[in-house]
Amino acid sequence: MKRSTFVTIASVVIMVPMLLLVISIKENKAEQQAINAVPEIKKLEPKSAEWGKYYPRQYDSYLETRKSDEIKDVLKQDPNLVVLWAGYGFSKDYNAPRGHYYILEDNINTLRTGAPIDQKSGPMPTACWTCKSPDVPRLIEEKGELDFFTGKWARWGSEIVNPIGCADCHDNETMKLTVTRDFLKRALDAEGSEPFAEAKHQDMRTLVCVQCHSEYYFKKTPWTDPAGEEHTAGVVTFPWDNGLSAEDIEQYYDEREFVDWTHKLSKTPMLKAQHPGYETFKTGIHGKNNLACADCHMPYVREGGVKYSSHKIGSPLDDMQNTCLNCHGESEQELKDIIARKLERKNELAHTATDILAKAHLEAAKAWELGATEAEMKPALTDIRHGQWRWDFAVAAHGGFFHAPEETLRILGSAINKAHDARLKLRIILAKYSAADYQAPAITSKEQAQELIGLPMEKLVSDKKKFLGTLREEWNKEAATKGIFDPKTRDMEFKTSYSK
Ligand code: HEC
Ligand code: HEC
Ligand code: HEC
Ligand code: HEC
Repeated sequence: MKRSTFVTIASVVIMVPMLLLVISIKENKAEQQAINAVPEIKKLEPKSAEWGKYYPRQYDSYLETRKSDEIKDVLKQDPNLVVLWAGYGFSKDYNAPRGHYYILEDNINTLRTGAPIDQKSGPMPTACWTCKSPDVPRLIEEKGELDFFTGKWARWGSEIVNPIGCADCHDNETMKLTVTRDFLKRALDAEGSEPFAEAKHQDMRTLVCVQCHSEYYFKKTPWTDPAGEEHTAGVVTFPWDNGLSAEDIEQYYDEREFVDWTHKLSKTPMLKAQHPGYETFKTGIHGKNNLACADCHMPYVREGGVKYSSHKIGSPLDDMQNTCLNCHGESEQELKDIIARKLERKNELAHTATDILAKAHLEAAKAWELGATEAEMKPALTDIRHGQWRWDFAVAAHGGFFHAPEETLRILGSAINKAHDARLKLRIILAKYSAADYQAPAITSKEQAQELIGLPMEKLVSDKKKFLGTLREEWNKEAATKGIFDPKTRDMEFKTSYSK
């Protein structure tokens, strides 16, 4: 090759990338300037599209949570659950979590929220909206916390219309991470080991999630409005005063004689675990190494030289390159195999637990039927209460099998132990009433179990459909007239486990 040709080629080879780099730096600068420009976003603006004007990458990736759209009917997977939750909404309908995009639709469409006909009817309190929408902090700001937490779920149907959004986690002026639910701040302070005022940036990358991914109950709180009228609010409260473990929280509820519902078959005063994701995560290896939820669920990604946090919150396994592989030397497949094995181990113990617990409920029902007394039954029912609480705590901490495998298996072990204790006690009672050989009926399918516990499924579904076609439509119209929702977050297909 001639020397001059070489020089020409060499300079082209050098010049082209340099030129591209200059262009890309310029573009980045323009983008950076747009980002640095002081955005005009209202305080607690619930419409994420308004924020998206300034932060398009975060907004677009946030909308991608719609890709996780599969309905997994958990009652179908394990029909024992129908028996475990007899007398409680979860026995009617329960699906595994899916993308944040569906957060409101799933809440509105589930049979658990029933079929209200006006603002004052239906089975659920207002508190059921709490972990669904940035309209919640907006309403709390407008009405006050106690007023917000008063009345029925249907009261806010036309007000809570935006799925989880930017305002749930960010300050409108500084874009800093923020906790918009005061009950989390109060709980951290009451627990004491990490008061909210001491939270560092890395903690905030977890705490924004903990507003919703934690265990809670609705604490009855009487109050008087300015007109002198008396009300009782059901205020979302985290039961952390004694600590974060399953046993600490169980003790908290026992001390207050708190009962979520009375079991329809066994008459046990039951507890329902919500989703103690944080409580269990804290005990695991990643929690102990100070990783935050965002480290795996909101990885930094690059696009045209711009680095940003992916707001497509979902399974970290969809993007292992930017999550696990930042820290781990194994291959993707090796890590996936490890995770799959952890899930299998959890499922094995969880199914053992539900099987024994379902039998315990049915045996208790038989004992009542034969005339057992409250005094005779109480010790067994206490074991059922504790056993089911522990099983639920372990499985409802979604992702717990990976976040904290040892703790999850430990709690499941103790759940199985409690359930066996209950059955031993029940067997003695059954023997006393000449039914030592009683065999509980086998649970074979969701439908069979729902019939066994006496749920009128057809009516529940037809009432629900009526609600969706009437009151629900009115909510939509009212919200559209007021212009308070982001239309891009509401154009989904109707998907539930009950519709055909
Ligand atoms: C405002 C309450 C709220 C906040 C804040 C919140 N979540 Fe969620 N999250 C939910 C609810 C409710 C669901 C279930 C949605 C459904 O099934 O419709 C969910 C679902 C999920 C899922 C399952 C997604 C899927 O595709 O299956 C993951 C993972 C998750 N959240 C992680 C996080 C992380 C990490 C954070 C913090 C960065 C966070 N969440 C913040 C309420 C919240
Ligand atoms: C569930 C909580 C949550 C929601 C909802 C949320 N964010 Fe974020 N956001 C985060 C976290 C966590 C980070 C990482 C912050 C950090 O480490 O500095 C972040 C970072 C950001 C950043 C800083 C740059 C970056 O990408 O790291 C911007 C800008 C941003 N988010 C915009 C938005 C917009 C716009 C929306 C609504 C479409 C939104 N966020 C919704 C939690 C959230
Ligand atoms: C070290 C990485 C890592 C950290 C940190 C982490 N997670 Fe996870 N999380 C995972 C993995 C892996 C899964 C299982 C995903 C799967 O099976 O597809 C998971 C599952 C979940 C699920 C269940 C999703 C579903 O559809 O069932 C939720 C909810 C969740 N995580 C929330 C959180 C929250 C909240 C935090 C912080 C308190 C957190 N995670 C911290 C890696 C992490
Ligand atoms: C920010 C760094 C970081 C990220 C991201 C991360 N890990 Fe880890 N992981 C750690 C550290 C630190 C430990 C503890 C290692 C030790 O003590 O030897 C650990 C431990 C583990 C272990 C062994 C402990 C156990 O529970 O079995 C597994 C498996 C693991 N990580 C899988 C994953 C997977 C899968 C992901 C992605 C979803 C992930 N990690 C993401 C830092 C990280």
